[in-house]
Amino acid sequence: MSDIEERLAELERLGLDRRLRMVSGPQGPRVLLEGEPVLLLCSNNYLGLADHPKVREAAADAAMRWGVGAGASRLVSGTMTIHRRLEERLAEFEGTEACVLFGSGYLANLGAIGTLAGPGDVIFSDELNHASIIDGCRASRADVVVYRHRDMDHLERKLCRHAGEGRRLIVTDSVFSMDGDVAPLQEIVELAREHDARVIVDEAHATGALGEGGRGAVAATGLEGEVDVIVGTLSKALGSYGGYVCANEEMVRYLVNSARSLIFSTAPPPPAVAGALAALGLLEERPHKVSRLHAAARTLRGALADEGFAVRETDMHIVPLVVGGDSDAVRLCQAALERGVFAQAIRPPTVPIGSARLRLAAMASHTTSELQVAAKALAAAAREVGLDPREIGEPAHRRVPAVTSVKPRPAHAARDVRSAPFDGERGEIGSAPFDGERETCIARAA
Ligand SMILES: Cc1ncc(COP(=O)(O)O)c(C=O)c1O
Repeated sequence: MSDIEERLAELERLGLDRRLRMVSGPQGPRVLLEGEPVLLLCSNNYLGLADHPKVREAAADAAMRWGVGAGASRLVSGTMTIHRRLEERLAEFEGTEACVLFGSGYLANLGAIGTLAGPGDVIFSDELNHASIIDGCRASRADVVVYRHRDMDHLERKLCRHAGEGRRLIVTDSVFSMDGDVAPLQEIVELAREHDARVIVDEAHATGALGEGGRGAVAATGLEGEVDVIVGTLSKALGSYGGYVCANEEMVRYLVNSARSLIFSTAPPPPAVAGALAALGLLEERPHKVSRLHAAARTLRGALADEGFAVRETDMHIVPLVVGGDSDAVRLCQAALERGVFAQAIRPPTVPIGSARLRLAAMASHTTSELQVAAKALAAAAREVGLDPREIGEPAHRRVPAVTSVKPRPAHAARDVRSAPFDGERGEIGSAPFDGERETCIARAA
């Protein structure tokens, strides 16, 4: 057996092997999955803009006008009029002086984090941050200090403990991609000010989905101009592909000069950029789409609660149904599929070990009856595989203890396939995760 065969066999044994499932047609509320009709409940096409006629048309026109590819990286000849136009519109939308487009949100995080922290610096990162943030932290070669999810006391203690060690950077998702909850941005910004740290906020799941006009969590919290870097993606509510950073002029100029993922990667394709520009126009013209998304989220949550699932009554569009075990999540996903509902099972390393789940995502284009039928199908699927809906739901709401942290691995432990390809670095480098440190913050107490 080759090492690759061995690794694949181990993944299969652990119930962690993954396969690509094929969707035919656009990302609408109903799709053909491997030829079978299903209700799509796990797409990030939150506002239904990926397949909106105006967005398609804009992308098709751009392909005719500018071609399909940008032909070069941004700093060579890959910056075209359409890139500049979208950057201006995004800066306006985010309330910042400037914006720069990257090839994807992943590359934007890699570039922004790697530029603002390096060896000798310290990054403070929420334990549930997205993998692109984790990879950005790793690539930076800065020290990474992981704080408990949304725990500001913990962040403050960590900031105190690591005072005076190079540049300091706090980085967080605004809406957490697998949990759908929101970072306490106001407190993060206050702590950053107090402790002389910069702040990067990743608005990937908030743009188009949160706050007035879908302007995201930073705007909704009244923090425009208070956050050093906003990272965003064109690939979710904006229905296209590509990423961006919004910041002040100086920061954007610095990124253009230093971010390796911008400098050494081809500029995003003109049709994708033009599609996102049209989507942004639609979002600004039709803010009711955001209200429709919230209404769909409330309907989905209400219908799930009626079926006994432990979910909160909010209008957050991401609804995690945490099951716990990896194979239970896969079996639930399969049983739901057999009832015509597609909600992908999400397992480690995307989520912490012991918190495998179905991550449901409402879309503005889902109808009330589709969501109600889906909730019933999910409950029937759970019962069929021997699970109790009352024990499935959002982490803080589950009636069984949710796993919020993982056991520390010895520094030199053999690599566990469950942690491949990125293990989330849910513990602080060089120490047990969340070791319950007791020291108080002298700076704060003074
Ligand atoms: C929070 C978060 N940040 C960044 C990204 C990466 O964005 P993109 O898909 O544009 O690379 C994602 C996408 O999955 C995400 O969920």
